[in-house]
Amino acid sequence: MKVRKAVIPAAGLGTRMLPATKTIPKEMLPLVDKPVIQYVIEEAVASGIEDILIVTNRAKSAMDDYFDYHPELEERLLRDNKTKEAELVRMSADLANIFYVRQKETKGLGHAIWRAKRFVGDEPFAVLLGDDIMMAKTPVTKQIIDAAEKHGASAVGVQTVPDEHISKYSSVKVSPLEERVYRVSDMNEKPTPAEKFSNYAILGRYVLTPDIFDILENTPPGYGGEIQLTDGLKTLCKQSPMVAVDFEGRRYDTGNLKGFMEAIIDYALASDEIGPWLKQFIVDKARQF
Ligand code: UTP
Repeated sequence: MKVRKAVIPAAGLGTRMLPATKTIPKEMLPLVDKPVIQYVIEEAVASGIEDILIVTNRAKSAMDDYFDYHPELEERLLRDNKTKEAELVRMSADLANIFYVRQKETKGLGHAIWRAKRFVGDEPFAVLLGDDIMMAKTPVTKQIIDAAEKHGASAVGVQTVPDEHISKYSSVKVSPLEERVYRVSDMNEKPTPAEKFSNYAILGRYVLTPDIFDILENTPPGYGGEIQLTDGLKTLCKQSPMVAVDFEGRRYDTGNLKGFMEAIIDYALASDEIGPWLKQFIVDKARQF
């Protein structure tokens, strides 16, 4: 089992980030000096992925434009001796082989993944949600791929979340397999603390086998009237092996304002260019409280 392809669903409406996302896709919002989606693509590439499909929609063409060349801009930058800027502009277009497919109706994450069927063909593939970014020493997708390849299984990235937040996620039923890796036998979407299987919640990274497509095709709309990936995964984990990887790293949900602000601050603090300045700014600010 070798994972070479990734699918990035990025066709959600982004209603939690309005009005900013009325005309700008949430995946294109700048996180320090790059759009959110570039971090996701870079994680996939650093995990050994060669081909990437972004599931997009009619309001999100800014993403395809971003990963294209911009000859006039590059020419102008080179003419003005702004070599570094010209390289940065070119680099984002050369990160990977990026393909696009549109989700014509916003029918849920499961439906968005199903749109990748032709691209994926008959091999296992990684899924990275386009608004979830991960700060980690070893790329989180690589951690998930390594476990999937080792166990010949599909895999989901999980971390523990407290009871008061579990209803925002999918909770998995697990039994221990090895350090940080568990066998998954069931799951449920957005459970109450009484309904949860465990406090392990699925957080935005997966490796799936192509059997998921037939399952999704036969999955009726679930929570919120949408075709839920979790409902498909629930079937998948019962018919073939699936592992949960308690990954090392910090996950940021940039699709909501608090997660986005946390990511901006942490990524800016980690930046050589503006980190030291921001630290001083925060210290000075804190003195005023
Ligand atoms: P979210 O739960 O973040 O939903 O989707 P959303 O619609 O993007 O944002 P809000 O809740 O309105 O603010 C989780 C992931 O699934 C994708 C999103 O782009 C995000 O990566 N998604 C969701 C789709 O691609 N298509 C859909 O129909 C729904």
